[in-house]
Amino acid sequence: MFLRNCWYVAAWDHEVAGDFLTRRILGESILFYRTSGRNVVALADRCCHRRAPLSLGRREGDCVRCMYHGMKFDAQGFCVEIPGQDTIPRKARVHAYPVVERHRWIWIWMGDPELADPALIPDTHWVDAPEWKGTPPGYLHYQANYQLLSDNLLDFSHLAYVHLGTLGGSESYAQLKPEIEVLERGLRISRWLYDFAPPPFVAKLLPPGKVDRWNDYDYLIPGILIMSSGFAAAGSGAREGRREGAIEFRSCQAVTPETETTSHYFFSQPRNFANHDPITDRLLDQALRTAFHEDLTIIEAQQERWSERDDDEMVLITADAALVQYRRIFDRLLAGEQRATAQA
Ligand code: FES
Ligand SMILES: [Fe+2]
Repeated sequence: MFLRNCWYVAAWDHEVAGDFLTRRILGESILFYRTSGRNVVALADRCCHRRAPLSLGRREGDCVRCMYHGMKFDAQGFCVEIPGQDTIPRKARVHAYPVVERHRWIWIWMGDPELADPALIPDTHWVDAPEWKGTPPGYLHYQANYQLLSDNLLDFSHLAYVHLGTLGGSESYAQLKPEIEVLERGLRISRWLYDFAPPPFVAKLLPPGKVDRWNDYDYLIPGILIMSSGFAAAGSGAREGRREGAIEFRSCQAVTPETETTSHYFFSQPRNFANHDPITDRLLDQALRTAFHEDLTIIEAQQERWSERDDDEMVLITADAALVQYRRIFDRLLAGEQRATAQA
């Protein structure tokens, strides 16, 4: 039940360096490496001869040799040599996935390569923009289905409970109904809180006093969150665009299914203040990691219950509004893909 014709974040750029990186995405093992020209290659990690992992093979220039019976493949996945054989069958190739490296993330297209249009990759330029300072590259491995992570990111009312002592700061966060706008491939969700005590994770970064707070974000298929958030002195007019003295973030986060029950989670939290201050770096990095482990703890525990049984009825509440609308878009796109596959 995965969408295939979309871009997923596969890795941080530094993860694909000199060596092979093997990562499973949508249940498929994929071998990543860089050519001598620094281009990222993503090949099925599965030899087309007898399915041995190519990651157990060896690099030969920009090619990979399978170290079982010695077939050699180029960066496009074509077999270029078969030991003891002069002719190479046309179908002797492994799948080469389209990849794009952009703003420190390596994006991969898991579906029909003909449809892989880089223009569909969402804008995450804040991650490496010089005027924005990102937290160190964030990654968490989840023992949970990717939809449970999406559910979590679509409903920030959990800040009031899961993150009470970190990102939330008050149960009143859960009282607020977000504005939700339906986009073609996702949702735009907006929450503004006024005259509010700053939550613990930023309290030390702000002058004393109440704040206005916002979390405005797009949550896009297949699981990309791009958020403008910030804190400004209460009543200073941040919503109308007066942001002097405000502190702002542009969080970029990506959920990528590894298997049906495990997921990859990539994140960065660029900020536009104290860009050269190591104390702020440390404080925010620690706060974010603590908070994201709070999510991990509840979601992995939720997955365990989900795995025990999934036939009991669940109760829908008002806070599920975004989740329900997102699932509708997801299901429509999935049905479209399945129809197209059936007709092909
Ligand atoms: S399994 Fe790779 S060459 Fe035989
Ligand atoms: Fe959370």
